[in-house]
Amino acid sequence: MTYRQSAKFYDLFGSKNDVEFYKDLALQMGQSALELGVGTGRVAIALAKAGIKVIGLDNSIHMLKVAGEKLEKELPAVRKNVTLKRGDMRKFELGQSFPLIIIPASTFDHNNTIEKQQQTLSCVHKHLQENGSFAFDLEAVTPETPPASWWIDRKQTKNDELVVRSIFTRRNMATRTCSLDLFFDVYNNGKLLERFHEYGEVAIISKDQITRLLSEQGFKVEAVYGDFQKSNYQQTSPRMVLVTRKK
Ligand SMILES: C[S@@+](CC[C@H](N)C(=O)[O-])C[C@H]1O[C@@H](n2cnc3c(N)ncnc32)[C@H](O)[C@@H]1O
Repeated sequence: MTYRQSAKFYDLFGSKNDVEFYKDLALQMGQSALELGVGTGRVAIALAKAGIKVIGLDNSIHMLKVAGEKLEKELPAVRKNVTLKRGDMRKFELGQSFPLIIIPASTFDHNNTIEKQQQTLSCVHKHLQENGSFAFDLEAVTPETPPASWWIDRKQTKNDELVVRSIFTRRNMATRTCSLDLFFDVYNNGKLLERFHEYGEVAIISKDQITRLLSEQGFKVEAVYGDFQKSNYQQTSPRMVLVTRKK
């Protein structure tokens, strides 16, 4: 998924309650962090405002462009704390290590095969300082999650355009993947200005699967939460939030 056309609308739909969680962790762990799949800088800029130096890596030039434009509007003290880089979370070499690496907003799920998940974990491990922390969150499938779903959301932009986003998801438990079709319709005064479709496929990862992979790749799992308020993860939790350490 390149986010080629949808990057400009990502923040419009992206209100999440994870920023305080990742910020607290970053302040505990030190003065720098690496965010993989930094996107529009939603989390990275919040960390930078708290005084953390962040390198944000992403493989989408479209998301990085939005992040860059947002950064330009920030104060110099914030701007100097964020470095954006284009790269693939499965194969990058930054030549430095970090006390904290984070992958917020279910971005690790973009690794839709076990091989890609192993590659990402191996790169993360290589870039973590001794005893460094790696934290990320995954979409969790609960017994109530339907095999397919369709939902529609609408938002108003600052330019008074109406953006209607429809998402169709379909799970395949044989391949442990979920396909995502995103349709965007943009209107101004009832007139259709733009219509586009984007497609992606993400992994469905169970707690057993991820804890086994993490252990094989040299991580110790410190906590598995069911939300960003640190409730214990349960089978019914819609999210899995993992905090790990380099072994
Ligand atoms: C759901 S968005 C999350 C953005 C941001 N982390 C946030 O919390 O708002 C996922 C991001 O991961 C990026 N991404 C997906 N696969 C990637 C890969 N293999 N390497 C680097 N970035 C990737 C996408 O381009 C996108 O910006």
